[in-house]
Amino acid sequence: MSFPKDFLWGGATAANQYEGGYLSDGKSPSTLDAITSGSKDGPRMMTYQTKEGLLGQVAKGKSIPAEAIGFIDSNQYYPSHVATDFYHHYKEDIALFAEMGFKCFRFSISWSRICPNGMKKINEAGLQFYDDVIDELLKYHIEPVVTINHFDIPMYLADHFDGWSDRKLIEYYLFFAETLFKRYKNKVKYWMTFNEINFLGSWAQIGIHQTDEQTKFQAAHHLFVASAKAVVSGHTINPDFNIGMMIGYIPSYPLSSKPEDVMATIEYNRQQEFYLDVQVKGYYPNYQLKKFEREHIMIVKEKDDDTWIAKGTVDFIGFSYYMSTVSTINPDKVRYVGGNQMPAVKNPYLAESDWGWAIDPLGLRISLVQLYERYHIPLFVVENGIGAKDQITKDGEILDDYRIDYFKKHILAMKDAIEIDGVDLIGYTPWGCIDLVSSGTGEMKKRYGFIYIDMDDQGNGSLARKKKKSFDWYQSVIASNGEIL
Ligand code: BG6
Repeated sequence: MSFPKDFLWGGATAANQYEGGYLSDGKSPSTLDAITSGSKDGPRMMTYQTKEGLLGQVAKGKSIPAEAIGFIDSNQYYPSHVATDFYHHYKEDIALFAEMGFKCFRFSISWSRICPNGMKKINEAGLQFYDDVIDELLKYHIEPVVTINHFDIPMYLADHFDGWSDRKLIEYYLFFAETLFKRYKNKVKYWMTFNEINFLGSWAQIGIHQTDEQTKFQAAHHLFVASAKAVVSGHTINPDFNIGMMIGYIPSYPLSSKPEDVMATIEYNRQQEFYLDVQVKGYYPNYQLKKFEREHIMIVKEKDDDTWIAKGTVDFIGFSYYMSTVSTINPDKVRYVGGNQMPAVKNPYLAESDWGWAIDPLGLRISLVQLYERYHIPLFVVENGIGAKDQITKDGEILDDYRIDYFKKHILAMKDAIEIDGVDLIGYTPWGCIDLVSSGTGEMKKRYGFIYIDMDDQGNGSLARKKKKSFDWYQSVIASNGEIL
């Protein structure tokens, strides 16, 4: 058998895209609760109010005025408010995961459900919800895999501290993380400190108002220190914790054999390796220090920051893999396609999903090899999948053979990485194992799940759950430990 016998087969979700209940039982809004729905062709918007009381909105990745605060406008539709309502369906959903044979389930904890204003005051009812979820998972012997923070931060921290640009957030995040570590000391073993730490760039995701490079990298430094301190603290609370980082990994290939294209590829890949190098190796790499010097970016550090970063290296690398991209010295001369959190350059050899993301199963093996040979620690594919428009036949079935085909090829790629390349891979949690709101576009019609949920782009639908054809298929994959595909 190629997959280890304790391989963690499962699925992945995130609070802001799945839970709903955005003000239930003492939860406060997070930044992502003020983000409207978008579409394939139009961006999601962040809605805000200025100091003078004027309402405004700007595309999700852009800057909002320095003193603006998040504003929820009753004339807009915000998909996170109900999402696909895990909050009220967790028992039913977990029973379905158990039926599929899940060994683990990855979900995130909503910070503003636990600490409504993000600071050091706990909302017990918020913790109760996760107690219930975790107990329900354990009832079926499903290992919880927790992302402590998946893109959503309490709106109060964005409004009053300019989010992660303020060092104070390290302390608040640590309080939040330690609350979870202590509460679930004997129930949760696998943790990740931040989702896709390399894609954090706006008010929506890290609460910063300005998105210039100086602000962004200062915020990244605070995230690194926060993550490192959480790793150290988590290991003190329970030395058996497995605490990982999580990155959105998009391997890039040179567009041609021109050495300039190869160099452009190295430079592209460094944008993600930087986050890995700091969190796995425990120090800022030289290429990044040189970049800061050239671009006059000054990272303000406190005396012990580098020591914390060195001490708080992670136990495993969790990463999302959806697609690869291509790099070239002439980016203005190429065609762009869609992509995970940012557009990518078209690879002439690859087909794309309906949202333009390149489909590249071999790229998953390439990623596993690159990551393992560079970092030599266990890897966990914590997101993978294809966003597609599912149709219900007149007999009420959802025949998602395209999804089965996509997964089959990606699982084979993982198998090769284990068998041929000797990669230490510990688990696989396909993204949106049950339908949820798209992060990039806020749409419902971009579906990833093995389980369909009746909900549309405007929030209409009964929220009823229904198995797709891929449900049975994944069930037999898990039952055979990846042998029957
Ligand atoms: C990753 C995120 O970037 O990609 C998820 O961690 C996200 O939150 C996933 O949902 C897929 O992206 P999208 O835009 O199709 O939802």
